Amino acid sequence: MRTTWTFSSAGQIIFGSGAVGQLPDIVSRLKLNRVLVVTDARLVEAGLCDQVTTLLKDRGTFKIFAGGEPEPSLRVAETCISEAREFRPDGLIGLGGGSNLDLAKITATVLAHGGSPRDYLGEDKIPGPIVPLICIPTTSGTGSEVSASGVFTDEENHIKAGAMSNYLRPAVAIVDPNLTLSCPRKVTADSGIDAMTHAIEAFTAVDNSTFPLPPGEHSLYQGRHPLGDCLAEKAIAIIAKNLPTAVENPQDLAAREAMSLGAMLAGLAFSNVGVALVHALEYPVGGATHCSHGAGNGMLLPYVMRYNLPGREREFARIAQLLGEDTAGMSDKQAAERAVVAIEKLNKKIGIPARLRDLGAKREQIPEFATKALGITRLIRVNPRVPTMSEMVELLEAAY
Ligand SMILES: NC(=O)c1ccc[n+]([C@@H]2O[C@H](COP(=O)([O-])OP(=O)(O)OC[C@H]3O[C@@H](n4cnc5c(N)ncnc54)[C@H](O)[C@@H]3O)[C@@H](O)[C@H]2O)c1
Ligand SMILES: [Fe+2]
Repeated sequence: MRTTWTFSSAGQIIFGSGAVGQLPDIVSRLKLNRVLVVTDARLVEAGLCDQVTTLLKDRGTFKIFAGGEPEPSLRVAETCISEAREFRPDGLIGLGGGSNLDLAKITATVLAHGGSPRDYLGEDKIPGPIVPLICIPTTSGTGSEVSASGVFTDEENHIKAGAMSNYLRPAVAIVDPNLTLSCPRKVTADSGIDAMTHAIEAFTAVDNSTFPLPPGEHSLYQGRHPLGDCLAEKAIAIIAKNLPTAVENPQDLAAREAMSLGAMLAGLAFSNVGVALVHALEYPVGGATHCSHGAGNGMLLPYVMRYNLPGREREFARIAQLLGEDTAGMSDKQAAERAVVAIEKLNKKIGIPARLRDLGAKREQIPEFATKALGITRLIRVNPRVPTMSEMVELLEAAY
């Protein structure tokens, strides 16, 4: 039985509209002279890359890698790394959604420790500090700016694969909600429901005191603990209240600010407590259908919530309240069910598909999804109920 828990974050968080203006000071403080900015063509086009590089003009040399892509493949990671090796930066800036931030993380890792991205997939494979990394998110979703993970598409094995290590937490996270104003509707919705999934999976995870960790094994995810709960509860309420507005009215700065905060709080929660069955299922589903991580998670979320209800009625009843449901006079069981319905309503409102088939999945892929998801032990063991193969197939059939 575990009796202690820990909490880790980015080295420093700088939050608020206009926060990116502090970049020159941060670059000086970290004593960076050659900076590689890892981003993508859409952010160059949207003018966000210029906004950042203008701030670097009098601070030594910089180079832009704009080859990032959504749900980055290991191949793109190799390309970014080979350009980085040529340039020999002493620091990196990840600018973008989770995809670019993760690309910057793995590049900073390989620059520091050699080898190739595959060497670092899995848990705790990074032997020491990585090249100093500043992460500047332009979506409100993944929490990668504070998290200990980097996620990639393994095209050979048709699955998403992650690297997890506290060394992947950025030295500095600059969270400037202004940078999310240009986020297209679908990206806002998908990344926002990903953040909601992080918070719900953290709030309903297995308890830290009963976390099923075999002797001698180490896990970054530790199960539910009091600090994780504080962060997750707040994140759920903030995201529920503001996500529909941010989707409907992209220029609403107050909603964007709230979403940036909510997503970051959810990132702090899940990156210590854990994410579970939704994410385990999204890895093979996303790998096969190429849906966005957020759309896959959002679609799967209500089905997994329903499966998890029996062991976590009190928590789901609380989630219903946080989602704005009136649960007065209801039993925990009734209120818990309202949480699932509230997520279904939210999904519908923001345009998240309701069924696996809508993502392009084929019915005959279900056994493969179930087998692959069950194989991701580091996520499955965080789930409050441990599913059997036949329960997984049943869940996926219901979702199909
Ligand atoms: N590292 C982690 O802890 C973690 C957690 C969850 C998810 N992820 C990963 O993050 C990725 C998803 O990241 P995401 O949801 O942030 O989306 P994303 O980074 O994939 O971006 C999606 C698209 O939106 C564009 N975009 C982003 N911000 C924009 C802006 N402000 N204006 C205009 N266009 C913008 C991007 O250029 C891209 O084309 C997935 O690969 C997922 O697996 C990582
Ligand atoms: Fe996620």
